[in-house]
Amino acid sequence: MASTLQAYGYEETLAASEKVAWRLDDLLGPQHRLDFQKPFLPETLARVRPLDFLSEGEQLRLNQIRGHGYLYMFGLVEEFILPFVLDHCRQGVAENHDRTRAFLQFAGEEAKHIELFRRFRREFEAGFPHPCEVIGPPEAVAEKVLGHHPLAVAITILHIEWMTQRHWVEAVQDDQDLDPRFKNLLKHHWLEEAQHAKLDTLMIQELALGCDSEELDQAVQEYLEIGAFLDQGLAQQVEFDLAALQLTTGRVLKEAEAQRLREIQHQANRWTFLGSGMSHPQFLATLESLKASFRKQLEQVAPAFC
Ligand SMILES: [Fe+2]
Ligand SMILES: [Fe+2]
Repeated sequence: MASTLQAYGYEETLAASEKVAWRLDDLLGPQHRLDFQKPFLPETLARVRPLDFLSEGEQLRLNQIRGHGYLYMFGLVEEFILPFVLDHCRQGVAENHDRTRAFLQFAGEEAKHIELFRRFRREFEAGFPHPCEVIGPPEAVAEKVLGHHPLAVAITILHIEWMTQRHWVEAVQDDQDLDPRFKNLLKHHWLEEAQHAKLDTLMIQELALGCDSEELDQAVQEYLEIGAFLDQGLAQQVEFDLAALQLTTGRVLKEAEAQRLREIQHQANRWTFLGSGMSHPQFLATLESLKASFRKQLEQVAPAFC
């Protein structure tokens, strides 16, 4: 896998961010409606087709339930990304004006995304026959994650930023079957997230400067602990999705079918939120730049989440 570490700068990242900026009203409103006749997520993330005991219509419903959970998860993680970026920004406020502006832009975009995903959820709930329960609450997840070493949190955020890039580039952008409205949300999110991945790389480099070898090891260990914590949430989310599917379709699955759904959907969620970030070439390149052994360490862990 290619893994050249790229160099980024605050000034050009800020310029790129200002160029692609969009307003919530550009994406939301009565002229943009979700089409519940179409899938929301690409099959590589949804993995509903292997569930051959579900009809096509039931698979479509599950895909949409996963789409709902997908954007909810982004909102959930952005609730801890936002305060973390603001805290990091404040530490160097007097030193570099471009840095301050770039991190404030980053934080402002995440605040906007949180609102985007909240409004999406309200619209989804208005058009979907039954409520879909979700994990959380976001404040509790944020408290747990932010209790870790700052470098561990920054590594987790970098994982999330590259994961978002990968989903759009590899799975969503060329999929012509998806609901165009949902796809448009993902596209606009991706446009701004592209800068976040660069800024987070810079943030990691700044944080790592103050760490000795043992502290770096500790940070990577804690990143894996945050991943394990999120994985427990994903298993719980699968239970909620199973309940929502049964409620919406009016069908109670046999125990063997429910178990198969749990296994396949948990792994689908693992790939979506854990494996696709952890194995991203740019993510691995950044970790390797901190210490050569980190790449191997993560490459050994990643297959369980793919
Ligand atoms: Fe975002
Ligand atoms: Fe982001």
